[in-house]
Amino acid sequence: MKTIAHLSDLHFGRTETKVVAALLSDLERHRPDLVIISGDLTQRARSHQFAEARAFLSHIPAPVLVVPGNHDLYPLYRPFSRIFRPRNKFHRSLPGHDSLPVWKDDQVVAIGLDSTRSLRWKSGALKGAHLDHLELTLADAPETAARVVFLHHPPSTASGGHPYETLVNHGIDLVLTGHVHHAHVELISSDHGGSLVLVQATTACSTRLREDSNGYCLVRLDGDHMEVAIQGWSGDIFHTIRHHCFEKKARIWRMAPHLSHVFPS
Ligand SMILES: [Fe+2]
Ligand SMILES: [Fe+2]
Repeated sequence: MKTIAHLSDLHFGRTETKVVAALLSDLERHRPDLVIISGDLTQRARSHQFAEARAFLSHIPAPVLVVPGNHDLYPLYRPFSRIFRPRNKFHRSLPGHDSLPVWKDDQVVAIGLDSTRSLRWKSGALKGAHLDHLELTLADAPETAARVVFLHHPPSTASGGHPYETLVNHGIDLVLTGHVHHAHVELISSDHGGSLVLVQATTACSTRLREDSNGYCLVRLDGDHMEVAIQGWSGDIFHTIRHHCFEKKARIWRMAPHLSHVFPS
């Protein structure tokens, strides 16, 4: 079994110290095998905000994969940097974090896609280059491994087709996104058979709250079983707000009752 912690929209520069500390404690308690952060690590891509993000990452007790969010690019009021080297500070400030992050083992292949665009604040396009990278990475992926894609923006378009149809056609099991600061889990079925699970995390520790409190997701994968636990901030600790369970039969994910025989609480 593999446990992935999915965090998003940390927004260092607009965080609550108490929430950040509790978030690290909860990660320490659940001991995930892998932590995936789907962008917006900073509020305005300032050096001190990246320094806070770097310190946070250094305390996470697991390997960490990150992709940038729109807030991690040079801001629009710095047009030269924004157009010609938008991700420079992100990569310079987070050394060791690849621009095309990939995790590959017998149980999980996780592929990070950079959905940010230098001239647009909001975007969710899966471009041809993303799909080429996906195909290349999946070409030698173990058959048994769950296929996970993570990106900042929930995908809204794709080169040559519907974004989720395209991802299902690539055999993707799970898509992890952020950006909208709202926790949401959905089973998405393709018109041509096949399905995937979309997990959108709210903001993990920032004060930029919309309708949700702070939170993150724990995804447990065990062969053809998946459990998504939404961890929410109570005001003192992170605790499990709800579970979503899924089973894969004949290559199609379906909702399942609580899988206590697979994922004991
Ligand atoms: Fe955000
Ligand atoms: Fe964002």
